[in-house]
Amino acid sequence: MKILLTGGAGYIGSHTYLALMGSGHVPVIFDDFSNSSPKVLERLERISGQAVVCERGSVADSALVQGLMKRHAIEAVVHFAGFKAVGESVAQPLKYFDNNLVGMTRLLQAMDATACRTLVFSSSATVYGDPASVPITESFPRSHTNPYGHTKLVIEDMLSALQKSDPAWKVAVLRYFNPVGAHPSGLIGEDPRGIPNNLMPFVAQVAVGKRPVLNVFGNDYPTPDGTGVRDYIHVQDLAQGHVAALQTLAAKGESFTVNLGTGQGYSVLDVVRAFEQASGRQVPVQFASRREGDVAQCYASTERASELLGWRAQLGLDAMCSDSWRWQSANPDGYA
Ligand code: UFG
Repeated sequence: MKILLTGGAGYIGSHTYLALMGSGHVPVIFDDFSNSSPKVLERLERISGQAVVCERGSVADSALVQGLMKRHAIEAVVHFAGFKAVGESVAQPLKYFDNNLVGMTRLLQAMDATACRTLVFSSSATVYGDPASVPITESFPRSHTNPYGHTKLVIEDMLSALQKSDPAWKVAVLRYFNPVGAHPSGLIGEDPRGIPNNLMPFVAQVAVGKRPVLNVFGNDYPTPDGTGVRDYIHVQDLAQGHVAALQTLAAKGESFTVNLGTGQGYSVLDVVRAFEQASGRQVPVQFASRREGDVAQCYASTERASELLGWRAQLGLDAMCSDSWRWQSANPDGYA
């Protein structure tokens, strides 16, 4: 299949690009490089041995998107292009409404106009808000605690209205848990701008000596060691989840919503210990107060993914840490 990857130069998009290629698909990257580096394209060519097809622009430019969808005879879209920083969304909600909601609307209009109605959408476990229990199944109630999370929830609702209006739409909503790790080549990985918001890139920057100490946000949660528990999933597994989702959409012809996680929760201190082991470096920590909006624990029920997609995460915390370390140590300044 010819597949357009919006935000295909980003962290999850670039790994999914390789997974799709490896499964015989023809991915086309579409990115405005607002939160990614064009250098990722050379890296993808080095890994795959094939020229990357990339178009530059914004998903909000409907005419541009329609043109390139026709030119490349696009049959399906995987939509990664969204902003995702919780704190920034609280400070600048309009930026999030514009990029995530208006961008999505324009993209859907372009897809409709070119009669390409197969979509895989990057949603997030953030739509579960503060879950009443774990593991979290897809039928748990949804809520939001910040504008970023709100945009994911609204987009899920937009997509469901669209499917009701026209059954030709085939939509896979993938609710990611905590993507971490990097391609085993060490050539592509997560490259956050400025101070990382997320745990794994922060830990990696402490291990490589770029930052002196990790602040552990809260050690009084009702969890085994008092620190927050999350479902970390290797980005390579996540990428394969997209391949499985596209195959399922094509084979079954029905829309679905599914969690992509491992079903296993690890605490902040578990991650720190595993990273120290994988890197052979010390990761000094200091306990700080809880971060606003954080929940005690969040991990997925993986049953639906395994039944519907025939997909299961294969890689454990050790691989997540060693691959993240290979990327970080070989590229201490990311793609810069
Ligand atoms: N943490 C620290 N120190 C840090 C960073 C994180 O202790 O410097 C802790 C957090 O408190 C949390 C855990 O590490 O307990 C994981 O935090 P992340 O920021 O890596 O991930 P979150 O689970 O908070 O956030 C992720 C995504 C969000 C999404 C959210 C809910 O990054 O986009 O899951 O699905 F909204």
